[in-house]
Amino acid sequence: MLGKLKTLTLLGLSGEEVEVEVDLHRGMPQFTIVGLADTAVQEAKERVRSAIKNSGFDFPRGKIAVNLAPADLRKHGPRFDLPIALGILHAAGQIQLPENWDEKVFVGELSFQGELRSVPGILPTTANAADRGFREIFVPEENASEASIIQEITVFGLQNLRQLCNHFTDTQKLIPTPPTKVESLQSPQNTDYDMAHIKGQEQAKRALEIAAAGGHNILMCGPPGSGKTMLAKSLATILPQMNITEALEVSKIHSIANLIDQRQPLKLERPFRSVHHTASGVAIVGGGNPPRPGEISLAHRGVLFLDEFPEFPVKTLEVLRQPLEDGVITISRASGSCIFPARIMLIAAMNPTPCGYDPEDSRCTSTAHEIQRYQSKISGPLLDRIDLHIQVPHIPFEKLSDLKTGETSSEIRRRVEKAREKQKQRFKNENIQTNAEMTSPLVKKYCPLNEEGKHLLQSAVVQMRLSGRAFYRILKLARTIADLEDQENIQLSHIAEAIQYREQISSALS
Ligand SMILES: Nc1ncnc2c1ncn2[C@@H]1O[C@H](COP(=O)(O)OP(=O)(O)OP(=O)(O)O)[C@@H](O)[C@H]1O
Ligand SMILES: [Mg+2]
Repeated sequence: MLGKLKTLTLLGLSGEEVEVEVDLHRGMPQFTIVGLADTAVQEAKERVRSAIKNSGFDFPRGKIAVNLAPADLRKHGPRFDLPIALGILHAAGQIQLPENWDEKVFVGELSFQGELRSVPGILPTTANAADRGFREIFVPEENASEASIIQEITVFGLQNLRQLCNHFTDTQKLIPTPPTKVESLQSPQNTDYDMAHIKGQEQAKRALEIAAAGGHNILMCGPPGSGKTMLAKSLATILPQMNITEALEVSKIHSIANLIDQRQPLKLERPFRSVHHTASGVAIVGGGNPPRPGEISLAHRGVLFLDEFPEFPVKTLEVLRQPLEDGVITISRASGSCIFPARIMLIAAMNPTPCGYDPEDSRCTSTAHEIQRYQSKISGPLLDRIDLHIQVPHIPFEKLSDLKTGETSSEIRRRVEKAREKQKQRFKNENIQTNAEMTSPLVKKYCPLNEEGKHLLQSAVVQMRLSGRAFYRILKLARTIADLEDQENIQLSHIAEAIQYREQISSALS
């Protein structure tokens, strides 16, 4: 007798349909799995055998052959345990699967006891199953809240194999997990940081507001303890909440990396990924087999924060160049390549010298050669991709001891949200969301300059020997500054401010 079931495997974020076929023959006891299965899938044999026995069924004698089709698609992980076990029970005539078996998807890892264990990637799996027209998905109970975010498919959460068999034998029907009401979800507020707690640093706060409004990259440079890390972490508090589409995109990536909080499976707050400089290139851009998203993809639609920027190995920083430009990262493997989204805001922080202090400061012990070597670790092409470079100076005692608090994050966030709303209207037919994402033709379309603006930009390009990329990036930044002022047209002051942020890059690190 033949048992056939459907499941899905993931290649990046896309789900590929897999048919699990089980064939039973008389003969010497043997259990084989074919169809490019990796070690974890091969080990399913032991888990499935024990789970079937411990769920009160007989493990069939004779030859068992499991085929995972299509045979040329590599299968990873323990997610096939459940369909394999069910296929064996059906093939052995111990349970009867319903007629419409090909409208159902089964995913889950089994324990020896027959309990179901959660598996990563349930959210993209469920979304793909719904897109492919499946009507029901059976997942481990622990993953059910995550799966129920997808409204177009009926989700069943399972504690163990027995429950599922009872469901199909009509002994005890399972109750579907109700779909999550995503519209009513609210993102939790981070109260540890607030712009109001930061004394002084007005220029840095202004630059962060612009960066948040248009999704631009920023580099902060200043002596130890001036508040760079604090400023970067406070950025998360002025970013607008994600809409449901963005939240779904982000949650799917986090689901593959097994980073979903099952109590709050839809991530509504923008990601803020702080990466240590000892992180490897693969940890940052992603990789492995099966390909897993790196920090740059986990920060998608949010912030990638690289503190102590020049301490990162040059090779690690260089791999950021392509995704910073394209907003996606392609991971190529012999078994095929997959694309993860990586539309991020890069926030970097650094000291001006290896000893930390400004070269003019009497405490500075770095030699000119050491300073040059330290700063040269950040390559020109990478620097070219950073729109705002700001100095974060030492704050004098009078300012630090001032009891007056500045503007709160929620006040700043309101302005940022207004600017983002303008961008949303502008780009409603363009498939992008922020000014930073504009391609060159879109810059030409949405950033027209008047004569005096053109003249100012032209002299900046010549004097500062700016690249073509820098030219377009200045225009995008000026667009955001104009949006924050609710101006339809880019004015001279907007161009001048945008150039000023780039000027500091050239002068400080040349
Ligand atoms: N402008 C400021 N207003 C309020 N507190 C500040 C300010 N600057 C620094 N602090 C205090 O100093 C602490 C250290 O600041 P932070 O870690 O941000 O410095 P940093 O510039 O990142 O230093 P480093 O270069 O050593 O990493 C903060 O947690 C905060 O308590
Ligand atoms: Mg710091």
